[in-house]
Amino acid sequence: MIVVLLGAPGVGKGTQSENIAKKFSIVQISTGDILRNEVKTQTDLGEKAKKYMEKGELVPDELIIKMIENRISKTDCANGFLLDGFPRTIEQAKSFDKMIERKSLNLDRVIYIDVANDEIVERLTLRRVCPTCGAIYHLKNKPPRQDMICDICGSKLVQRSDDTKETVENRLKVFKEHTKPLIDYYEKQGKLSSISGLGNVDEVFTRISKILGDL
Ligand code: AP5
Ligand code: ZN
Repeated sequence: MIVVLLGAPGVGKGTQSENIAKKFSIVQISTGDILRNEVKTQTDLGEKAKKYMEKGELVPDELIIKMIENRISKTDCANGFLLDGFPRTIEQAKSFDKMIERKSLNLDRVIYIDVANDEIVERLTLRRVCPTCGAIYHLKNKPPRQDMICDICGSKLVQRSDDTKETVENRLKVFKEHTKPLIDYYEKQGKLSSISGLGNVDEVFTRISKILGDL
């Protein structure tokens, strides 16, 4: 099964990806997580990507496309994978179509998660993440321990540097301009399912499970 999770920053793609990967036994590929790891380990790609990520701009298509092509060629993707944060431009979507065609694979479904911008700003500015295991928390909706320690791996939680109000607003602008056109792109391919991302995590997951369970 090959699935794409599409949605603005903060709609819950990372949160839901974790659940989907577990339930449907597929590999979760988050371009944001891969890039943050490249930045942390100061690779060439990380050095190039950093300045875009800090401003909430998109990392150039050619870097992302190469990164995804490498990632999906690994053996753990043989049984399918779930893409969180890719594709994000029409150029990336077209390259991905060609990539999977060359591998004789098929994109099964694109799930678009929709949440209003006010709610997104609240979700992102109150998000805290674990820099070690990637666990995602929220000061109100999924509160961490009072000492701000990850209850999975014991690391100190942090706020992502792109989760300030100003950068979130820019990320939303970038989404509207570059990524929203993908809704139409996949609608035309007959691959799109749209759901509301409102309600608690379990409620949203039930909507997603229903779509994937019917495949
Ligand atoms: P990336 O890491 O992909 O960020 P994003 O798309 O902006 O998405 P987020 O991770 O911010 O949000 P999410 O939807 O995963 O929400 P989450 O589950 O955490 O990308 C970062 C940067 O990398 C980009 O800006 C760009 O520079 C670069 N990049 C990445 N991919 C790229 C690409 N393909 N091309 C070019 N550049 C690329 O949830 C958010 C919060 O809400 C959490 O606190 C969570 O606990 C809470 N929450 C989740 N669900 C619910 C719910 N149902 N109710 C209440 N609260 C909830
Ligand atoms: Zn952790």
